Amino acid sequence: MPETSYRIATIPGDGVGIEVTSEAVKAMNAAADKFGFQVTYTDYDLGGRRYLSTGEVLPDSVMSELSEHDIILLGAIGTPDVPPGILERGLLLKLRFEFDQYVNLRPVKLFPGVPSPIAHLTPERCDLVVVRENTEGLYAGIGGSFKKGTAQEVATQESINTRLGVERVIRYAYKQASERNGHLTVCHKTNVLTYAGSLWWETAQDLNQEFPGVSLDYVHIDAACLYFVNTPERFDVMVTDNLFGDIITDLGAAIQGGLGLAASGNLDPEKRYPSMFEPVHGSAPDIAGNGWANPVAAVLSTSMALAHLGQVDAARSVEAAAASVLPELKTMGGPKMGMSTSEIGDRIAERI
Ligand code: IPM
Ligand code: MN
Repeated sequence: MPETSYRIATIPGDGVGIEVTSEAVKAMNAAADKFGFQVTYTDYDLGGRRYLSTGEVLPDSVMSELSEHDIILLGAIGTPDVPPGILERGLLLKLRFEFDQYVNLRPVKLFPGVPSPIAHLTPERCDLVVVRENTEGLYAGIGGSFKKGTAQEVATQESINTRLGVERVIRYAYKQASERNGHLTVCHKTNVLTYAGSLWWETAQDLNQEFPGVSLDYVHIDAACLYFVNTPERFDVMVTDNLFGDIITDLGAAIQGGLGLAASGNLDPEKRYPSMFEPVHGSAPDIAGNGWANPVAAVLSTSMALAHLGQVDAARSVEAAAASVLPELKTMGGPKMGMSTSEIGDRIAERI
C-alpha cells in the first residue's frame, strides 16, 4: 500500500512568522518520520516583502496552486511599512473567505508550568476552545464612506449574519462540545445587537435538538471578558461571531500565558478546500530576526493541522512535546526566554 502523503503549502509571511514557520516544519517532519507518513512542501513568499517589491498581494495563479494542497501553514502577515488593510483583507481574509474556512478554532489552554497573569489559575481551570465564525460578521467588508474628507463624513460598516453561516459554525461547535465536556456557550450581545443576536441564539436553541447530550447557555461578550479572567472553568466550548471571537481570543491568549502560546486553525471542516493553521500572534516586527519569538504557538498550530488530517496520534505527540518544553523557558517569549526560537524547535522535534 502506498504511504500516506500530504501536500503542505507554507506561507511564512513577515517578521517572526518566518522564524516560527521553520520550527513548525521541523515538528511536522519529526512527526512524519515517527508516525510513518510523507510530507511535501511548497513555499510561497507572500506578505509585506512581496507586496513592497512587486505590488502583488495574492495573485490568482497562487490562489489556484494553493487550492491543490491539503493544508497551509501560515506564519504571520504584516509589516509596518504597508498601510493597514491591504495585506489583512487582500491576503489573510481572502484566504479565509475564498477557501470557505468558516471555523476559526482557537484553544485556550493553560499548560503545566506556564505562569498565567491570573494569580492562582491552574491548568484544570483553564481548558476551553473558542469557535470563531470566520467568514461573515463585520469582517465581510460591507459598508462605505460618504462625503469622505469633509466635516460631514459618514462611514458605515455592516455585520453580515446568514442563517447558513451561523448554523454551520454552531453545528461545528456542538460537535466539538459533544467530543469534549458537553457544554456549549453562545457568546454575543443580544441585548443591543438584537437582529444578529436573535439569529445566533435562536439557531443555537434549534440545533440543540440534534445534540441532546450538550448543555447550552449564553453569555454577553462583555460578561465573557469578566468570566475569562475570573472563572474560565465555566467554559468548555464557546461559539461566537467573527469580531467578538477575534477580541476574546487575545484575552484568551493572555490568560493562557501569552500570544507566544496561542494556536489556531482556520478550518473548512468538509475539506473541500485546504485549511490553514497559524499562530494567533502577528509578525511582531519589534522583535523579529533575533530568535526571540516563541515557536510553540506555531508548533501547536501544526498539531491542530495533524488532527485535521486525521493523524491524531501525531497531533498528540506534537502537542505533548511542545508542552514539555514550556516549563524549561524563563519567559514565554522575548529576549529573556533562555532559549532561541530554533533551539526550542530542535528540542520539540527531538522529543517527538
Ligand atoms: C487574527 C488577526 C486578524 C483578524 C487580522 C490580522 C486581520 O487579528 O487572526 O486574530 O482580525 O482576524
Ligand atoms: Mn486577532
